[in-house]
Amino acid sequence: RTVPSSAVLMEKGNYRHFMEKEIHDQPEGCQRTIAAYVDTLGGRVAVPGDLDFAKLERVQIVACGTSYIAGVIGRYLIEQLADLPVDVEIASEFRYRDPAIRPASLVIAMSQSGETADTLAALRYCTERGMQSAAIVNATESTIAREVDVVWPIHCGPEIGVASTKAFTAQVSVLISIAIAAAKARGRLSEAEEQRLVKVLLEAPRLIAEAIGLEDAIRDIAVEVSKAKDVLYLGRGPMSALALEGALKLKEISYIHAEGYAAGELKHGPIALVDDQTPIIILAPFDAWFEKSASNMSEVMARGGQVVFITDTEGAKHAPAGAKVVVTAPSSDPLISALVMSAPIQLLAYHVAVLKGADVDQPRNLAKSVTVE
Ligand code: G6P
Repeated sequence: RTVPSSAVLMEKGNYRHFMEKEIHDQPEGCQRTIAAYVDTLGGRVAVPGDLDFAKLERVQIVACGTSYIAGVIGRYLIEQLADLPVDVEIASEFRYRDPAIRPASLVIAMSQSGETADTLAALRYCTERGMQSAAIVNATESTIAREVDVVWPIHCGPEIGVASTKAFTAQVSVLISIAIAAAKARGRLSEAEEQRLVKVLLEAPRLIAEAIGLEDAIRDIAVEVSKAKDVLYLGRGPMSALALEGALKLKEISYIHAEGYAAGELKHGPIALVDDQTPIIILAPFDAWFEKSASNMSEVMARGGQVVFITDTEGAKHAPAGAKVVVTAPSSDPLISALVMSAPIQLLAYHVAVLKGADVDQPRNLAKSVTVE
């Protein structure tokens, strides 16, 4: 076991763990990220590089772990705003299945470290076949960053905790900017609409900070969740991706078995797991999917499920009665709701792990950077 140097100890400030610090760093981290991709005075996005989004026919995102989940959220935003088809694939699958490559497409390698072996190999597979390439990375001197046409840094500062938190929200912030830039280049946004979306994006740091303010309530929920053997996370739309991230965070650091599901799939399997011992975390801001998620909540409650309903101010007014707990994050535009809703699930995993006495920053069997296949 290595003893942390005093410099590293100091960097933790008043926090017990790097993960805790990094969760709390997110408002400032996202602010830095957004500042690099937005011309705040002009109210426009300013994505670095000279990629012509108008000429692209497809985007292929390749990534692993939490970076993959950020990519899935990016797909929702880019397809919806820019009408640009996006595929997202786990790099270790993509590289071994002889995927069909078309010109006029862009591969985006998403990687906090920029060194993940499978992501690098998937990137090379695409570039060797003539695709244009970009990388969304934290480490701008990394191998992945060196091999692409365009580097999109996430600017969140070094991430030490093995379980990714602030890099995730920074990656999503970059993808939101790219979605707006692509929509603009493809003639899908008026200037006024672009300005509105930029204004929404600029509100994200403040709303993330408000969501982090739910920490006391989440610590209480963690006491119950820490007793569970299995936990189910459900959501729809971008929240289905965040359900995956919630489950991943929990299993990574607390070692509790958790699964994330698109809530529409509930009936096709996971509902069989529901009993009064299984916490069901439903992520449901008041968006286009809210009614459907609320009805899934009723379905699991009818089977004795203990629901933790994580919603927003507007959703709390419309939530069906009977949830064990309702967590009310601030309301936000759907453009940034994945950013705002991230803090509650990160904090939940964190506090469960602390209650279980787990080694939060160095979970067993996991590495920060996976440079082997
Ligand atoms: C490891 C880390 C995860 C990370 C994944 C991808 O599994 O423990 O937190 O999401 O690698 O890493 P990357 O550096 O490519 O984003």
